[in-house]
Amino acid sequence: MKIFTRKSEVKEFLSIQKKSKNSIGFVPTMGALHQGHLSLIKRANKKNDITVVSIFVNPTQFDNKEDLDKYPKTYRNDVALLESVNCDVLFFPSVEEIYAENITSEKFDFDGLEHQMEGKFRDGHFNGVGTIVKTLFEIIEPDTAYFGKKDFQQLQIVKKLVEKYKLLVKIKGRPIFREEDGLAMSSRNARLTKEHREAAPFIYKTLKKARKKFGIKNAKELTEWVEKQFEEHPFLELEYFTIADEKTLQTITEVGANKKYRAFIAVFAGDIRLIDNIRLKNN
Ligand code: PAJ
Repeated sequence: MKIFTRKSEVKEFLSIQKKSKNSIGFVPTMGALHQGHLSLIKRANKKNDITVVSIFVNPTQFDNKEDLDKYPKTYRNDVALLESVNCDVLFFPSVEEIYAENITSEKFDFDGLEHQMEGKFRDGHFNGVGTIVKTLFEIIEPDTAYFGKKDFQQLQIVKKLVEKYKLLVKIKGRPIFREEDGLAMSSRNARLTKEHREAAPFIYKTLKKARKKFGIKNAKELTEWVEKQFEEHPFLELEYFTIADEKTLQTITEVGANKKYRAFIAVFAGDIRLIDNIRLKNN
C-alpha cells in the first residue's frame, strides 16, 4: 500500500492511474477503522481498479472540542487493517495540509437537509462535512465514493453536494455493520465504559421494536413510545428519535403512499453520543 501525506503527491500518483484508465474507488474516513469501514473498502476494491482510503480527523465537523480531542487514533492498527484488505492507497494528510492557516468551513445550502436531526443538534457539523468531502473529492477525483448508511443524513448530504456542484463522482450508500449484539459499529464505541457498552445494544433493540409497531401506531405515538423506553433506562439518555422521509429527511406526522421512511435516533451513553437508524416498511 502506498501512503501519501501530501496532496500534490497523491494527485500525481493518481493522475498516472487515470491515464492508464484505472478506475478509482474512494472511502473517506476519520480512522479508528472497524469492520464497517472495511466493508466499504472491500466493496470499493471489488468494483474499482484502485482503492483509495483517506484518514483525516476533520476538525471543522466537530461541534464539541472534547469529542475532537478524544477521537480515537489508532494509526498503526489502521494501516495493518488496510493492508489486510488490499487497499492500494492511503491518504493521511495533516490539518495544515488540508486547511493551511484557515481552519474554517465553507457555508453550504443543502436544500434543508442540513437543518434536520444531526444538523439541529450539532451546530455547523454539515458545513464541516461538506467542506472536507468536497476538498477530498477535488484532490482524489474518484470515479465512485462509498459511504455508510450508519450516517444516513451525511450520505444524503453528500449526494446533494455532488448534485449541486455537478461533481463527477458516483456516490454509493452501503449497509450498516453491527456488532453481534446489534450495536452499530462506530469508532466511538471504543470509548464506552463497560456499563455503557453493555447498555448500548438497547438502541438497536428499540429501533427494531419501533419498526414492528410502525403502521400500528402513528408516528407521534411511536415517538412517544420510544421516548418512554429511554426515560425508563438507567444508563442511556435519548437526544432525539424521529421518523423521517428518506429523501427530504423531514419528520413525518402521516404516512404517505410511495414514500420511504426511516427512524433515526441519537443517544448519549454517558459522554459518548451514539447514532443509529433503521428502514421502516409501510404496512
Ligand atoms: P467515519 O465516522 O470514520 O466514517 C467513515 C465512513 O464509514 C462513513 O461513510 C460512515 O458512514 C461509514 N461507517 C461508519 N460506521 C459504519 C458502520 N457501522 N457500518 C457501515 N458504514 C459505517 O463519516 C465520517 O468518518 C466523516 O464524516 C467523513 C465522511 C470521513 C468526513 O470527515
